[in-house]
Amino acid sequence: MHRDPGLSVRLKLTLSYAGFLMVAGILLLAVVWVFLLRYVPDNDVILGPSGWIPNRGDLERAFVPKVVWMLGFLLLFGLAGGWILAGRMLAPLARITDATRVAAGGSLSHRIQLPGSRDEFRELADAFDAMLARLEAHVAEQQRFAANASHELRTPLAITKAVLDVARNDPDRDTSALIDRLQAVNTRAIDLTEALLLVSRAEQGSFARERVDLSLLAEEATETLLPLAEKHGVTIETSGDITPTVGSSALLLQLTMNLVHNAIVHNAHGYGTVWVKTHVRPTTVVLTVENTGEFLSPELVSTLTEPFQRGTQRIHSDHAGVGLGLAIVKTITEAHDGTLTLTPRAAGGLHISVELPQTPSAGIRTARA
Ligand SMILES: Nc1ncnc2c1ncn2[C@@H]1O[C@H](COP(=O)(O)OP(=O)(O)OP(=O)(O)O)[C@@H](O)[C@H]1O
Ligand SMILES: [Mg+2]
Repeated sequence: MHRDPGLSVRLKLTLSYAGFLMVAGILLLAVVWVFLLRYVPDNDVILGPSGWIPNRGDLERAFVPKVVWMLGFLLLFGLAGGWILAGRMLAPLARITDATRVAAGGSLSHRIQLPGSRDEFRELADAFDAMLARLEAHVAEQQRFAANASHELRTPLAITKAVLDVARNDPDRDTSALIDRLQAVNTRAIDLTEALLLVSRAEQGSFARERVDLSLLAEEATETLLPLAEKHGVTIETSGDITPTVGSSALLLQLTMNLVHNAIVHNAHGYGTVWVKTHVRPTTVVLTVENTGEFLSPELVSTLTEPFQRGTQRIHSDHAGVGLGLAIVKTITEAHDGTLTLTPRAAGGLHISVELPQTPSAGIRTARA
């Protein structure tokens, strides 16, 4: 932004200090003057051959030059003192400004770390440091995300290239197997790209909001995923109240699908169980998805919502996910002002709850119709 040059704050403070000192000095001298005048006659009073009382003119001649000297001294004192004091007061501001310039130049690792006990400047500096720390963490996360995303997107392309090379070098080979492989790789790349698009859409928060009942979404997700559950030999149990909230029903359905999908595929094969529940709290509504399975350590669980984080080692089988399911759940939850909580179950498996703000239930059925 362009600004015209102006007086520095240090100069303005100095001038006000000096100004106040002058006004106070003048007032004080005025009081002294009025007080003195009460004891001094206006004209000469002769008391006798030796007696003489100074009159007003005498007083003026004696007092005024001293007053002028005094005021001159006060002015100099005010200017010099004000300049020094204002400089000392404003010194932290220079440090904060320098730090801001460094940050604006792109280096987010610099901190102000203003020493001293708490005051307005220290509070500003601490708030600024906290902001820098958050920004730095955010940028690092974005960079990791971009690096992982490009790595994941390169993988299907590299596989496609290898498959095509094989096909060209060996024309007599059975092409149907190659086509199947290419199709699988291609589908995976499309899924990955769509998941990335979904994350960015939810992150921008640019979606229409309507009244939604989470229990209906849970029902819909469970029904859709029932064949998958049967294939994995997993039982799904659902129960719940009407849970009214406001948001995008498409995104919240995606969230529910991701959670139920995870609960099925990361479950004990052949004998696992999934519990999908919804319930209402005083000001919030909660969706919980709980499943049996392998034991997970709390340290591992705390990393699972990071993009591209898979709990077990990367297995490039057909079932291997890309590791974006829970990152999408987290983004959608945050875009709806909710909280996502992951807790490992003592008996193995995971307990996940999504808590969203509640809205009065009127009109939900019609909105979903
Ligand atoms: N309900 C669950 N029970 C046990 N482990 C889980 C559960 N949900 C997620 N996980 C673990 O967290 C990891 C990350 O889950 P996420 O949904 O983000 O990725 P993914 O399922 O591997 O891949 P996709 O992007 O296809 O969903 C999984 O690889 C799995 O190890
Ligand atoms: Mg998943």
